[in-house]
This record gives sequence, structure tokens and C-alpha cells, in this order.
Amino acid sequence: MTSTTSGTYDFIVVSNRLPVDRVVGADGSASWTRSPGGLVTALEPVMKQNEGAWIGWGGQPDLELDPFDSDGIRIIPVALTALEIEQYYEGFSNDTLWPLYHDVIAPPSYHREWWDSYVEVNQRFADAAAVAAAPGAVVWIQDYQLQLVPKLLRGIRPDLTIGFFNHIPFPPYGIYSQLPWRTQIIEGLLGADVIGFQRVADASNFQRAVRRLKGYATKGYQVEVPIVDASPGVRVYGEIKRQGSFRTVVARAFPISIDSASFEELARTPEVQERAKQIRAELGNPRTVMLGVDRLDYTKGITHRLKAYGELLAEGKLSSEDVTLVQVANPSRERVQAYMALRDDIELTVGRINGDYGTIAHVPISYQHHGFPRDEMVALYLAADVMLVTALRDGMNLVAKEYVACRFDDGGVLILSEFAGASDELKRALLVNPHDIDGVKEAILQAIAMPKSERSARMRSLRKRVLEHDVSRWSRDFLDVLESRAHHGSEGHRLS
Ligand code: G6P
Repeated sequence: MTSTTSGTYDFIVVSNRLPVDRVVGADGSASWTRSPGGLVTALEPVMKQNEGAWIGWGGQPDLELDPFDSDGIRIIPVALTALEIEQYYEGFSNDTLWPLYHDVIAPPSYHREWWDSYVEVNQRFADAAAVAAAPGAVVWIQDYQLQLVPKLLRGIRPDLTIGFFNHIPFPPYGIYSQLPWRTQIIEGLLGADVIGFQRVADASNFQRAVRRLKGYATKGYQVEVPIVDASPGVRVYGEIKRQGSFRTVVARAFPISIDSASFEELARTPEVQERAKQIRAELGNPRTVMLGVDRLDYTKGITHRLKAYGELLAEGKLSSEDVTLVQVANPSRERVQAYMALRDDIELTVGRINGDYGTIAHVPISYQHHGFPRDEMVALYLAADVMLVTALRDGMNLVAKEYVACRFDDGGVLILSEFAGASDELKRALLVNPHDIDGVKEAILQAIAMPKSERSARMRSLRKRVLEHDVSRWSRDFLDVLESRAHHGSEGHRLS
């Protein structure tokens, strides 16, 4: 696509998935329902106050659809073929980048055809944004599936202000440097004016990769990018720098959050509170209910959590009469081999623990391999005395924040992995290293025995953080910085 014709939208969000799900009814008719993520909640007001549009994939192969409106948001679908889903989505995004960016917990696969497909699909998203954007519009690209879009889009539409947010970790250089296309990805991202990360450590890992691979200077939050690409010569870069023809890109942390007030509001409804009591009763009113809520993903440390719990049962430190663990494992990326193997592993372990330590009346683990509607999730959070978040690596972990937002009663104890981004903010959780099984066991026992006064003091402090730093504050912070970068005073669109 080489056309520079512009569209009419002043604010565009680009993400792999659209914020709506396509539902096909029994009669074969299709409709769209809003998916409940925090991102769409946060951005909806900005979308409505400006001419906003959302570009993304509809979640199924070969959906060639015209743009449409959904609850006041303009939706612009991008089609993917079955082969692209296999190579760009399941392959390069979720079997190369995902394990690589999560500290190679699973081995990443490197295939040149997957990379080619990633380039092609990123180009399609960039083209769609280039066609839709009004002159000087603000475009905000989301996540690791679309890291080439900033550069590709800038190439077609240099008038735009471009932001990028990486929802997952950015790995240390020693790991990142495995990637055969490491330089192209860095160049892709540097097409943005502002690149956001979850943690300070992610932003510094990125800046180090920029220095190592491109030789560009970084200073505080800023990266100096020559306007004429000097690669690979650092020497040429020095020359360009003397002439002053470079632009600065901001690369820094903006920890994402949730729509905290709406979680609390739901938790305060009598129906949800009643349901929480009912859940406990259905579990046989154990003294302690523990809860894990995760996408079924190897980054989440579900097997580590089960190991710790299984050992406590084996040692007689806990009994299934007293404790039940409810483990919600949301099905995810089910055609990727590593996810199939993980499911088998988890289900084998759950079966063994229930078989070894259960009684007719009490099973130690209530295992749910499906998602729940939001009100049922909130009831589960209220019913849980202990919340277990034992991720081996996680960009943020919004489940931890959801649990905290729901506990308006200042009850409940959060056990939180120090490898989840949320641990930078939620310092008064019981922080654990999930690889240290003895440490996790101790934290579980400590949580169960924790005096009420300590529980509520900790929860109050966690709640303060989560309620003050919600997702609309996150998006405002990011968009403020992005707008302040907008062409340094030229005609870029100002969001209202
Ligand atoms: C993570 C990623 C998101 C992704 C989500 C669900 O949170 O950061 O970009 O949408 O997982 O994964 P899926 O592959 O189903 O979109």
C-alpha cells in the first residue's frame, strides 16, 4: 500500500483482537458482544469524545467484514486466513515471541515462514490504520503481536502521532538476543513516538537492546533515533547526531490497571454477596477457600501452586476437610502444543491430588476448565480467603488487582509472585518466589493463620493503590505523554 489518502478517525486503537466477540446463534445468525476487558472500558470515553475507531481481528478465519458500529465504537475488522492464524498468531506471536518474552519458560520455536507471515499481517494492520486515520490523528498500537506496525505506519503516514504499549514483559538482552529478527523488531517499535512497558525493568531491557543492536543513545526515558537510518554504522549515527537530525522516542513504564470502581461496585451488590455465601456452602463450608484464576498458560505457575498445595496435604499440614482450592483455568491457545501438554500435566496433577487426599464429601481442588461471567468471578473473589497468584513471569497480572478491588470488606489475603508486574505496586501482598516451593508452602500457611487485624491492614494498603491507580488513569497518563510528543507544536490532533 503506497497511498497517502487519509481517513476520518482522530483516535485509533490497533490491537490483535477486537474488543468484541462474534457470536453465532442457533439459527446461524451472527452478532457481536462486547468483551469485558479493562482496555475497552478505559478507552471508550476517549473513543466517544473523539472520532474513534478500533482496528483488530474478529477471532475467526477469513472474516471479511465491512466496518460497523458496536455500542458507539467504530469497529474496523482485519481478516486473517487460516494459514495466517497458524503462522502469525499461533506460530510467531504465541510460540516464538510469547515464550521468548516470558524468560523462555517454554522453548521458543524459530521458523522463517512464521516470521514472513508476521511481517505480512503487521503490514495489513498498518495499512488499515493508514487508511482510517485523519490527518494528524493519534494511533495507539497494542501488544507484542503488532510490534512492526509503528514503523510500517510511520512509513506511510508520517503525519500521525503513534503510541505503542507492550502488555507483556520485555526480556533481558541475553534472552532477547536469541531472536533471529531482533533488530527488525526494535526498528519496528522505534517507529512510535512513545513506547510503554509494564515495569521499569522492561523499559530498561528495551533501551539496552536499542543500544546494543542500533548503537543509539538513550538518556532517561528517551531514545535518540536518527531520522535517516544509520544502521548498521554507529559511526554514521555520530555524524547524524552532530547534524542534529534525529527524533526522540520516549520508552518508559506505565503499569496498566483495571476498572477498579466497577469491580468494587459489583462486589457490593447483595446478589453477588449472596452468591459468594452460596459458593462457600456448595464447597461444604470449608474453613478456608483458596482461589487461583488464570488463563491456562505455562507462564502462570499453576503446576508450582499445585505442587505446594499437594505437599501440604501429604504432610498433613492441611486437610481437605478444612481447605478447598478453587482453580479456574481458562482455556487458551488450545492448538499450540505447549498449551496442550500443560493442560494434560495440570489435569493429571489435579486428578492425583483429588484421588489421594479427597473424601467422598470433600475434594481438595475444585477445577474449572472454562471461563465465568464477571459477576460469578467477583462472587468467587469474595468467597476466597486466600488468592494465589504464582506466575513464573507475567507482564502485570490483572487478576491480582481484581481480587483487591473486590475486597471492600478488607478481607482476604493475596499471595503474589514477585515475577508478576503487579508486585512492583502491591508490596503488602505476601510476595513469593514460585520456584521456591517451600516458600510458597510457608506463605499459604501464613495466609491461612494470619490474624484479622494484619489481613485488613495489608488489604487496606493494597486497595488504596488499586483504587487510586485504575485503568483510566493509566490511559490518561499514556495519552498525555503521547500528545505532548505530538510533533512538538505542529498540527497534530489534540484529544478531548
Ligand atoms: C495476554 C496478551 C493479550 C492477549 C491475551 C489473551 O494478556 O497480552 O494480547 O489478547 O493474553 O490471549 P489471546 O491469544 O487469546 O488473545
